[in-house]
Amino acid sequence: MSHFQYQNGVLHADSVALSAIAEEFGTPTYVYSKTALLENFGAYADACTGRDALVCYAMKANSNLAILDLLAREGAGFDIVSGGELLRVIAAGGDPGKTIFSGVGKTVEEMRLALEKGILCFNVESIPELHRLNEVAGSMGKRAPVSLRVNPNVDAKTHPYIATGLKANKFGVAFDDALATYRTAASLPNLDVVGIDCHIGSQLLDDAPLLEALDKLIELIDTLHGEGIHIHHLDIGGGLGVNYGAEGDKPPVPVGEYLGRLFARIDAWRAQKHGGAPVKVIFEPGRSIVADTGVLLTKIEFLKPGAEKNFAIVDAAMNDLMRPTLYQAWMGVQEVAPREGDKLTYDVVGPVCESGDWLARERALNVQPGDLLAIMTAGAYGMTMASNYNTRGRAAEVIVDGGRVHQIRRRENPAELFALESMLK
Ligand code: LLP
Repeated sequence: MSHFQYQNGVLHADSVALSAIAEEFGTPTYVYSKTALLENFGAYADACTGRDALVCYAMKANSNLAILDLLAREGAGFDIVSGGELLRVIAAGGDPGKTIFSGVGKTVEEMRLALEKGILCFNVESIPELHRLNEVAGSMGKRAPVSLRVNPNVDAKTHPYIATGLKANKFGVAFDDALATYRTAASLPNLDVVGIDCHIGSQLLDDAPLLEALDKLIELIDTLHGEGIHIHHLDIGGGLGVNYGAEGDKPPVPVGEYLGRLFARIDAWRAQKHGGAPVKVIFEPGRSIVADTGVLLTKIEFLKPGAEKNFAIVDAAMNDLMRPTLYQAWMGVQEVAPREGDKLTYDVVGPVCESGDWLARERALNVQPGDLLAIMTAGAYGMTMASNYNTRGRAAEVIVDGGRVHQIRRRENPAELFALESMLK
C-alpha cells in the first residue's frame, strides 16, 4: 500500500499533510516515508530469513545518511560504486565488512581506501582491474577479496540506458571470457577469488531475465568448481522494478515471489550437484527499496497557456529530478489539494533554460499558481542525480516517521554553490 494517500482532501505522507511540510521546509523538497522504507527492506529481509543471504542496498539510488543509517540498523549491507560512497557508509554507521564495491573504473586511491576499511568484496569488471587490484593489495601487504562481474548476455527488456547485461554494454566480463579471466584472477598472488556476480539492468518488471542470468552463473560456478576455483558467494545484482503508475504499466513481480523462485532454483542445483551445500547469496537492490518511499514536493509558480500547450511552471526542475529528461521516464504527478472542477492538459516544467527541462507531459490538472504538486515515486535516482545546473541549490530532504518530520538534508543556499571557486591571482 502506498504511504502517500489523501486524507481530508490533502495528500499526506503517512499521517503528515504535504502542505504542512511545504509550509515548514519550503519547496522543492524530497519527502520520504520511514515506514515505507522499512517495509520495502523488510520484503527482502523476510524472504531471506534462515538463509545465508545478504542484501547490499545499492546506495546510488538514494545515499542520504539517514536512509543509510535506517537500513544499516535493519542489517543491510551496501553496494557502492565510489570511494565517496564508502565514506558515506562509514559516516552512517554502516559496516564496511558488509560492503561490496561495483563499477568499471575503480581508482588506485579507491582500492586502497576499500582495502584499508576491509570491505567484503570487490566486484571486478576487467583484467586490467584485476592487475591493478593485485598490485595495490600487494603494496599494502593485503589480499583483496574478489568476485568477477560476469556479463551473462541476457536481454533485460528495459530502457537501453539502464540495460547492462548485453554484449554491447561496457559492464562486466563477457560470458565467454569468464573462465579465462577467473584463471587469471586465481593466479594472482594478492587476490582471493570468493564470488561471482552480475547485474543485468534496472527497472525489470519480470523476473524471467534474472532467473535466466542465474542459470548462466550456476553453469559457470560448476565449471569453475571443476577447475578447482571455488565460489563462496553468488551475487545476482539488483534490478527489480517498481510501478511508476503510467497507464497500461504492469506491476513488477513481488520481491518475495522473485526471491522464492530464485532460492528454489539454487536449492535444487545445490542438492543435485553439491550435496546440498549452501552458497551465500547477495542481492544489490536499489530502486525497489527506495523509489516508492519518496515524492518530490513542488509549488506552481506560474501557469502559461499556449497555442499548442499549456505549461505549469513549477519550482522544481530537471536539475532536481533528471529521470524524465534523461530517460523520457514517466513520473506520476498528483495535486496535493485537488480542486473541484474541470481539468486542463499541462506540461509540468521547471525554470531551467532548456527545452528538456520538463518533469511530466500532458497531464490533466486543475491548478492555480501557488498550488502544490507531488511528483510520485521519486525516492530512487532523484536526489542522488540532482545537480546545481543554473546555480540552483539542491532541494531539501525530509523523512516522515509516524507523525514526526525530520529534516535529513537542508536546502543549499547559493553562496555555498560557489564557495569552492576562486578567481585568478
Ligand atoms: N548493482 C549495480 C552494479 C548497478 O549498476 C545498479 C544500478 C544496481 C545494483 C541497482 O539497480 P536497481 O535495483 O536500482 O535497479 N538512474 C537510472 C537507474 C540506473 C541504474 C544503475 N545501476 C534510473 O533512474 O532509472
